[in-house]
Amino acid sequence: MTSVPEVLLTGVSKRFSTDEVPVLQGVDLSIERGEFVSIIGPSGCGKSTLLKLVAGLSLPSDGEIAVNGILPKNARQLVSFVFQDATLLPWRTVERNVALSLELEGRTREETATTVQKLLELVGLSKVGKSYPRQLSGGMKMRVSIARALATRPRLLLMDEPFAALDEMTRDRMNEELLRLRQEQNWTVVFVTHSVAEAVFLSSRIIVLAPHPGRIAHDIVVDLPFPRTAEMRESEEFDVLVNRTSKLLREAHRV
Ligand SMILES: Nc1ncnc2c1ncn2[C@@H]1O[C@H](COP(=O)(O)OP(=O)(O)O)[C@@H](O)[C@H]1O
Ligand SMILES: [Mg+2]
Repeated sequence: MTSVPEVLLTGVSKRFSTDEVPVLQGVDLSIERGEFVSIIGPSGCGKSTLLKLVAGLSLPSDGEIAVNGILPKNARQLVSFVFQDATLLPWRTVERNVALSLELEGRTREETATTVQKLLELVGLSKVGKSYPRQLSGGMKMRVSIARALATRPRLLLMDEPFAALDEMTRDRMNEELLRLRQEQNWTVVFVTHSVAEAVFLSSRIIVLAPHPGRIAHDIVVDLPFPRTAEMRESEEFDVLVNRTSKLLREAHRV
């Protein structure tokens, strides 16, 4: 018995206007359930476009996309999207920001309150539920944003440079937390980043995109064991993987 891939792109192209080089062309990509796949590549090579296609926020010009075997627009309940900016509503408390999608789903007050508390605990923010976004650090805002994305109990997380605005130490800590949560929750993650070190630390696999038209240049297996630890960042193996991936990324810039 073969299992259905969590994400499957077959010959996917995307063009926004007919006279230009397509943003993405001939992308074939299969992601199994439980994989952590990072997408790296130069600015403008189509990383965000790819993620939006998988989320069903945009349609391919050619080719096919399936999430768990069905069209992305029909798979929205399985999927959550985390953007680079935390995009929290400033007039709502942390709790009320996390509660938003639950309210939209029409859950009862009690049910919503219980779920929100659990989610805040999960991301280590149970003490700041009554605070407003402006009272929080960048890292805390991002955690609220992640808690909000988790409220709908997704099994596929699409993350578009979620930690890009954070300082390095906060980002490292968020990376470790993300992996811990993923271990608990069995998510499949597709993660866009500019940082090769971040991609290596998080991923079981890294896809390098080349630009004009955006296409897969390299598909790299990261054979570091899970769980990943902070100490691994100092290991020689880690260095080797970062250097090798950086080299492939530089080559992708040139083509
Ligand atoms: N809605 C859109 N309309 C027209 N062009 C777009 C749109 N979205 C993205 N593009 C173009 O597609 C290319 C890839 O964009 P994007 O996927 O955001 O790249 P990346 O995330 O890798 O930096 C860019 O040239 C961008 O200008
Ligand atoms: Mg982008």
